[in-house]
Amino acid sequence: MKIFLDSANLKAIKEWKETGLIDGVTTNPTHLSKEGKDPSAQVKAIAKLLPKGSISVEVTEKKPDAVYKQAMAIAKLARNIVVKIPCHKDYYHVIAQLVKDGVKLNITLVFSLVQALMMAKLGVHYISPFVGRLDDIDVEGVDLLYTIRHMLDEYGFETQLLAASIRGVEHFHAAIMAGSDVITVPIAILEKASQHVLTDQGIAKFDKDWKKLGVRKFP
Ligand code: E4P
Repeated sequence: MKIFLDSANLKAIKEWKETGLIDGVTTNPTHLSKEGKDPSAQVKAIAKLLPKGSISVEVTEKKPDAVYKQAMAIAKLARNIVVKIPCHKDYYHVIAQLVKDGVKLNITLVFSLVQALMMAKLGVHYISPFVGRLDDIDVEGVDLLYTIRHMLDEYGFETQLLAASIRGVEHFHAAIMAGSDVITVPIAILEKASQHVLTDQGIAKFDKDWKKLGVRKFP
C-alpha cells in the first residue's frame, strides 16, 4: 500500500520524505492556494523533492477544451506528474483522450461506485473517492472504498484505488482494511497516526529499568 501526503507544503514534504514512507503527494487548488506561491514553481519543487514519487496536480480550467490543454501543460511540468481531473460528465471525453495520449490521470471528487466504474472503464490510473466529504453529508464514506475495491477486482480493472479526504486515524485504518492501493493523508493525521501513548510509555519504562543496571557501554 502506498502512502501519499495530502499537502503542498515543501517543509512538511521534505520532513516526511526522510522517513522513507512517502510514495507521493496529492495537491489540489486549496493546498496550493494555502502556500501562497507561484503554483508552477511550487509543483516543480515538490516533484523535484520526490523524483520517484507520484505528484498529483489538479486542473483549474472549466471548459473541456481548456481542461485538455491545461492537463497537457501540467503533465509537462515534471516527469512524475499525475494530472487530477474532476469526475464530471463534461470531462469524460477529455479524460478518454488524455488516457489515449498516455497522460497519467487521477480522477478526483469521486462519490459513487458507478462514477468509479465509469472512470475505470476509461482506463485512468487512479480514482480518488472522497471518504470525509461523504461522512460530512451523513453517508458512510468508508463503505465506498470497499465497494470500489470489489468492483475493480471483480471486473479485472487495473485502475488503482486512492483513498482521499481522510479526516482521522480511523479513516486510515479503514482504508487499509478496504484494500486501498494508495491513501493520501494530511500531515496532521499522519503525525497522529505515528504516535501511540503505549509506545511512549514503553520507551520510558525500558529506559528507567535499564538505568538501574548502571552499565556504561552496551554492547
Ligand atoms: C486529495 O486528492 C484531495 O484533494 C483531498 O484528500 C481532499 O480532502 P478534503 O475533503 O479534506 O478537502
